[in-house]
Amino acid sequence: MKEQLDQIFSRHHGTRDALIPVLQDIQAEYGYLPPEAMEAAARFCRVAPVEVYGVSTFYAQFKFSPVGRNLVMVCQGTACHVMGGARVLEEVQSRLGIRPGQTTADGRFTLETVACIGACALAPAMVVNKDTFGRVKPEKIMEMLNGSGS
Ligand code: FES
Repeated sequence: MKEQLDQIFSRHHGTRDALIPVLQDIQAEYGYLPPEAMEAAARFCRVAPVEVYGVSTFYAQFKFSPVGRNLVMVCQGTACHVMGGARVLEEVQSRLGIRPGQTTADGRFTLETVACIGACALAPAMVVNKDTFGRVKPEKIMEMLNGSGS
């Protein structure tokens, strides 16, 4: 890890202003922010570790655990909620055995919820990687996961 971090740090100035770009590069490298990389970023940018934690939890783009090979996003926006989005989320959670923000033990799926994916007319909607599914029926969820996930 040290070698990759040194490479990332070599592209930035070691100041507080570089903190977010450094964290973005770390996430691009590892897919999330490993704790030891966050500590190294704090030392490099000369800020307290608690500040790195504060910045990284403020921005939803940063993840704190490894992300699965497939990203499942279940819409919980108003239109989807009205059309049964909660039931879809329950089914995905129960099928995968994880809650939003978690990744399956085999690293295959990460589950997230979103506030709207722009497919309200097709509510309830969900996305698996680049595939958007509308009018999702809970009993078809495994087909969608297996069809779109690797
Ligand atoms: S509210 Fe779900 S797609 Fe818009």
